[in-house]
Parts: sequence; structure tokens; C-alpha cells
Amino acid sequence: MAIVLRTLRHHHRYLTFLLSSTIVLFCFHFQNSVVIFTYNSYFRYVSEPAPCACATCALDRGRADGFSARYEPTVHLLLNSSNSELRADVFGWWKGLQNVTSVANYTSVVKNLFPLFSDKEHYSDAGPDRCRTCAVVGNSGNLLRSHYGPLIDSNDFVVRINKGPTGGFEKDVGSRTTHRIMYPESSVDVDNSTHLVLSPFKMLDIEWLISAFTTKNITKTYMNVSSTIQANKDKVMILHPEFMKYVYVNWTDSHGRYPSTGFLTLMFALHICDEVNVFGFGATKAGQWHHYFDETLTLYVNESHAGDFEYQTILRLEQEKRIVMFKGWT
Ligand code: C5P
Repeated sequence: MAIVLRTLRHHHRYLTFLLSSTIVLFCFHFQNSVVIFTYNSYFRYVSEPAPCACATCALDRGRADGFSARYEPTVHLLLNSSNSELRADVFGWWKGLQNVTSVANYTSVVKNLFPLFSDKEHYSDAGPDRCRTCAVVGNSGNLLRSHYGPLIDSNDFVVRINKGPTGGFEKDVGSRTTHRIMYPESSVDVDNSTHLVLSPFKMLDIEWLISAFTTKNITKTYMNVSSTIQANKDKVMILHPEFMKYVYVNWTDSHGRYPSTGFLTLMFALHICDEVNVFGFGATKAGQWHHYFDETLTLYVNESHAGDFEYQTILRLEQEKRIVMFKGWT
């Protein structure tokens, strides 16, 4: 009996030892994880604070994808008098989009821009305290019956493209417009609070902008255009040709001849906003850019644009959580 009791006591001690060492080891391991976790969070916080104050920042560099290799935060986004001189490669590319134009011609036209329009540096206020949201509204027919209107209007900036109207479509596309990107052939009047943003695909587009606010003598480009435009002169902006080339090379991998206005607009938003919400992008199954407001259909792969490649890039940006896509109905 004594032997049995001694054996049981021995086993009991052995089990207690085993149990306590497991608990100690477990706690040690757990504590270690907490230490590592806290250290990592602290280290990340100290060395790399969040780039903006939104819940998810489009520009968060902590993510492992190809975005940072392509994204150039210092690219010239908008033309002003101090950055209007073009690098030779930029001028060469831009010149290639149009009938030949000379540097001298460009310089003499651009000289007239900034006495006329505001010459400010815009959107250099990015930082950890800013959370600016952008709705980029393309013209796709997938907006019809979407009921996205209030969602679109809830963004700080609502950026529209070309002729995309709001009147009569408010339920699906919203009613606010802070920026409208256009070129002479797609121009429409905007109200006093909206930034008219010219996307100059050619020299004549800049000349037209000047003329529309002054002499009104340009009435034709490759087609008849409006000789005038209603817009707040102090809110006019002009995309920089350097930005247009950057989007073409870095983001469309030089597919097509030049990026579509919609794709340029989306990239513009990624450079001025911290959170980018994308609406109204997406062709029909047959590869046509249809509109929510008229019956026109344009093949999205054509002599100018690589719409399919642009769309794949947009889907990749969505997957990488750089943008949020609202795909609508069709
Ligand atoms: O037709 P429009 O060029 O005015 O449309 C503006 C932009 O919206 C296009 O440049 C394109 O990027 C986008 N779009 C689209 N799918 C459509 C129609 C337009 O992605 N069905």
C-alpha cells in the first residue's frame, strides 16, 4: 500500500511539474508575441505614420504591391507659371499627339495663360491630418438605376468628366460638381463653384481656353466647338502635359496613343485625394463605352485609347485597395 501511495505521489508531482512548465512556456510565448506585436506597432507608428486621416489611405506605402513603384508624388499635376517649361521628353511626347508645334509656339501661348487664370500651387496639403474623399464619376451607362446619387454627393470632391450631366439624373449620379475635366470638343458650361479642368491634348486646346475667355475667335478645331464657355475664371485649372505623359507611361504602360479623359481623371483624383471612390466606369460586354445620358457608343479600344488595358489597371487598383469601385448595374 505504501509503495502504491509513493508511486501516486511521484506521478502527481510529475504531472504538476509538466502542467506548470507548459503554462509557463505558453505564457512566455504569448507574452513574447505581445511584446513583438507592441514593438512592431510602435515601430511602424514611429517610423511610418499613416499618410492621411482616413480609415484607409490610398497612398499607404505599407502595402506590398506595385503601386509605389509607379506612383510619383512629385509629378507636376497642374500647369502654373513656375512649372510651365516642359522637359524635352515631355514636349516630344505631347507634340506627337498633334500636328507639329514648336517650343517657341508653346512658350508664347503659355505666356498668356497666367495673367488670365489663377497661378496658385494647388493640393500640396497632403499629410497625416487630412482626409479628403473624392468621387470620380465616369459616364458609363452602368450608373442608370444605381441610386448612387447621395453616395457620390457625400464626397468632399465630386469630379465629373466631359459632358456627363446631373440634371434629370440626380438619383443615380448626384448633383454636386467640384471639378469637371474637359477639352474643347467635350466642353460644357459649369457653375461658379466648379473648377473647369482642361485636359490639353493639343496646343490648340490651350489656345481655345484663352480664346473662350477673351476674344472668342476660335470656333473650330478638328470639328466645330463652342467659341465661349461659362465658368469661373478664377477656378480654371490645366492638366500639366508632364502629368499626362506620366499617366500614359507609368499607368497605361504606353498602351494606346494617350490615356482617356476618364483614366486621367481617376489618376488626378489619386493625386489630390486621400480616398478615391470610383463610379461610372465600365464598358458594355461588347467593349463599347456607353453613356448614362445618351445613345452614343464608342469602341473602347480605338486608335487613341486602350480602354481594356485601362480597365484592367482600374480593377487592379481596386484589388490593391487603392480605390473603391462602384460598378453599378450593367
Ligand atoms: O464618353 P466619355 O469619354 O465622355 O466618358 C468619360 C470617361 O468615362 C471615359 O474617358 C472613360 O474613361 C469612362 N467611361 C467608361 N465606361 C463607359 C463610358 C465612359 O469607363 N461606358
